[in-house]
Amino acid sequence: MYSYLSLALMIYILGVLGSRGSAQDVSKLSLKYYDKSCPNAQQLVRTEMECAVRENPRNAALMLRLHFHDCFVQGCDGSVLLDDTETLVGEKKASQNLNSLIGFDLVDRIKNQLEGECPGVVSCADLLAIAARDAVILVGGPYWDVPVGRQDSKTANLEKANTDIPAPTQNLFALVTNFLGKGLSVQDMVALVGSHTIGMARCVNFRERIYGDFRATSDSDLNSMAYLSKLQSLCPERGHDNKLSPMDYVSPNMFDNIFYRSLLNGKGLLNSDQEMYSSFTGIETAKLVKTYAADPLAFFKHFSDAMVKMGNITNPEGGEVRKNCRFVNT
Ligand code: HEM
Ligand SMILES: *[C@@H]1O[C@H](CO)[C@@H](O)[C@H](O)[C@H]1NC(C)=O
Repeated sequence: MYSYLSLALMIYILGVLGSRGSAQDVSKLSLKYYDKSCPNAQQLVRTEMECAVRENPRNAALMLRLHFHDCFVQGCDGSVLLDDTETLVGEKKASQNLNSLIGFDLVDRIKNQLEGECPGVVSCADLLAIAARDAVILVGGPYWDVPVGRQDSKTANLEKANTDIPAPTQNLFALVTNFLGKGLSVQDMVALVGSHTIGMARCVNFRERIYGDFRATSDSDLNSMAYLSKLQSLCPERGHDNKLSPMDYVSPNMFDNIFYRSLLNGKGLLNSDQEMYSSFTGIETAKLVKTYAADPLAFFKHFSDAMVKMGNITNPEGGEVRKNCRFVNT
């Protein structure tokens, strides 16, 4: 009787451990995941990214942002890439994505290369993680190894995309709360926002700032006022919502720490960016902005660590390896 019981207990414990182990394997990322199944995966992504960034450096920004918007909704599972269909509501119409998120054709191009080399092996979520890393290096930023093994979701979540992707109008408290909720620290957030050292924002996203507190935060010197009037002529109080301006006006195509120096001068384009330095509640974030403005290597180190952490947000539902990043497999 006693031995039956202990045997049953043993089996039960093994069963629990066993299933825990395999459940973890689904979400556990590794550097070697494609070493046997698709040894050229990384190289293929790199080659396509080199070509795309040479053609237009903005492509680097597009891939970096896609990875971010992917990871903040259900984890990094390629959900951001799904098109709307009769049976699936995608995330492309979310408030922060609509008329804003682009680069899906470049994703398709990279995916085609991967499918040609090793069909059905490399997930779209991993594609984005690798492409985002390559994007950063190709415009002068740091290198980091990208853990892989993510699965693509079979679902998307428009509501979550609306609530969880940060908006430029949010105050520092809301932004910090959001990042903490994703397992990312204040330091991770300030470093990751350094992504805005590349890429563009639309007038509709910085209008309130340039007709609002820009004067109050900036050092009202000639240089700042010339910058402000340039922004205002590009982005009038009404209309021209989609006119573009770089978020780092000094070196928009270089991944460097100049973005943070502009925040010290109060010249952040997005209100959310300037909040990191100018918010009354941002003692810790302001300190980090100063650190990164003074020390590009500290920025690079914290940024790459934070990118690995962000890329580590997994979707516990698991999924599949999509053949076409825009649609779940049939
Ligand atoms: C505090 C949180 C953040 C907010 C409020 C925010 C907001 C924005 C906004 C409003 C734009 C311009 C979009 C448009 O006008 O169409 C933008 C662009 C961009 N964001 Fe963020 N962002 C945040 C964090 C991040 C993070 C964590 C990353 C990457 C890890 C990132 C990467 C980018 C890039 C690369 C662009 C330029 C895209 C392009 O050129 O099209 N952002 N962001
Ligand atoms: C990534 O997530 C796993 C659990 O899924 C955890 O063990 C690991 O420490 C995480 N790594 C980083 C860098 O956050």
